[in-house]
Amino acid sequence: MTENRTLTLTNENSQAICELPVLQGTIGPDVIDVQALYKQTGLFTYDPGFTSTASCTSTITYIDGEEGILLYRGYLIEELAERCTFLEVCHLLLHGELPTPESLKDFENNITMHTMVHDQLTNFFKGFRRDAHPMAIMVGVVGALSAFYHDALDIKSKKDRDLSAIRLIAKVPTIVAMCYKYSIGLPFMYPNNKLSYVENFMRMMFATPCDDYVQNPVLVNALERILILHADHEQNASTSTVRLAGSSGANPYACITAGIACLWGAAHGGANEAVLNMLKEIGDVSNIPKFIERAKDKNDPFRLMGFGHRVYKNYDPRAKLMRATCYDVLAELKLEDDPMFKLALELERFALEDPYFIAKKLYPNVDFYSGIVLHALGIPTNMFTAIFAMGRTIGWIAHWDEMIADPEQRIGRPRQLYRGSAQRDIPSQHR
Ligand code: SDX
Repeated sequence: MTENRTLTLTNENSQAICELPVLQGTIGPDVIDVQALYKQTGLFTYDPGFTSTASCTSTITYIDGEEGILLYRGYLIEELAERCTFLEVCHLLLHGELPTPESLKDFENNITMHTMVHDQLTNFFKGFRRDAHPMAIMVGVVGALSAFYHDALDIKSKKDRDLSAIRLIAKVPTIVAMCYKYSIGLPFMYPNNKLSYVENFMRMMFATPCDDYVQNPVLVNALERILILHADHEQNASTSTVRLAGSSGANPYACITAGIACLWGAAHGGANEAVLNMLKEIGDVSNIPKFIERAKDKNDPFRLMGFGHRVYKNYDPRAKLMRATCYDVLAELKLEDDPMFKLALELERFALEDPYFIAKKLYPNVDFYSGIVLHALGIPTNMFTAIFAMGRTIGWIAHWDEMIADPEQRIGRPRQLYRGSAQRDIPSQHR
């Protein structure tokens, strides 16, 4: 990494007002280190939406938006999705390396031993209406976890951070399945320690105390891949939320809850639910042109959900893998003629041939096909974002852990461009 490169800032009279270091990463754009800018010039940078701002140094995930490349700790997402289990990817994201067979066994066993939740946690569900959105329940119940684990909340202790990571990776699936069971009035299913992570989740979701649940390996593999594809994505909105919450010293459960709340938005993780609702609204291939025109109309708030991305200006590699998973699952369930899938394929074809979408480089993102797969797996639409949160929990934790250990880390406190009233006196009639 070549250091000592600088950028000189000059004023309107071409006088140098500031020398700023230029830093280089392993791959990807160089950055201008503006930390000294305000002190040296009295100027702030201005970047609402952080389109040109690197908020931190990270070694976890790299995205090349132009080429549509996604790496977790240097490994291609396509290879990880094909050759690894979700827990192997969790180990990779958290510890920086894929596990050896021995370390994988320990990691799996550690997770398994933490999948149960404190029995009093079930009381939190009773306070919610049965028709409460699962993400509202997730925010409440995951946020409540810190009330049960006073034994390991010292964020400066790596041991406590590792235990919190295990607890969250292990318990979030249990809580997600509880959200589903609660919404349909069926009893919660306890975890089964003999099952794999994904099999255990499928059983907690779809088994009842009255029958044995028969696992379908094609569906288990599909969900394994879905979780891998959602595991991390650099400094996206919810991960940045987790980092900002964590920078104040908040406990990991509170930080992950902040991430869950941010993910819920339709522009972010809520998009998979919004895609299904949009496809239902479009209804038929004959309506596609009308909705494509609406998506292009600046005066119409309608957007093509599952399309576009802040970073990808090429096809989201995850969307390609998700589409392949769609084919696998629909073939296994003899749903190749699923009208929703056919409509999605046709909508994608229309959009990719439309000059507006081509000009703005709007491609399908991870959410475009994930909803169709989840729907085929029997997961209700309002649970889609909770599944996204289940996959992304490991990414949030890995970034939170990296931030706490980062010597450059300090509380995140952005400034602003103030355009409100200058100082003024209160009108005399106010005493
Ligand atoms: C995720 O950041 C991440 O990494 C997120 C994520 C992750 O793994 O964490 O990848 C997960 O959130 C994927 C995105 C899911 N959201 C959606 O599918 C919702 C629909 N997409 C859009 O809302 C939008 O594309 C965003 C929010 C994803 C990105 O918004 P940006 O980067 O702020 O881009 P923009 O809104 O400025 O759009 C640029 C232009 C605009 O037109 P102009 O103002 O330049 O004329 O493209 C247009 C937009 O109007 N545009 C769309 C569009 N997305 C962008 N027009 C129609 N339909 C769309 N979907």
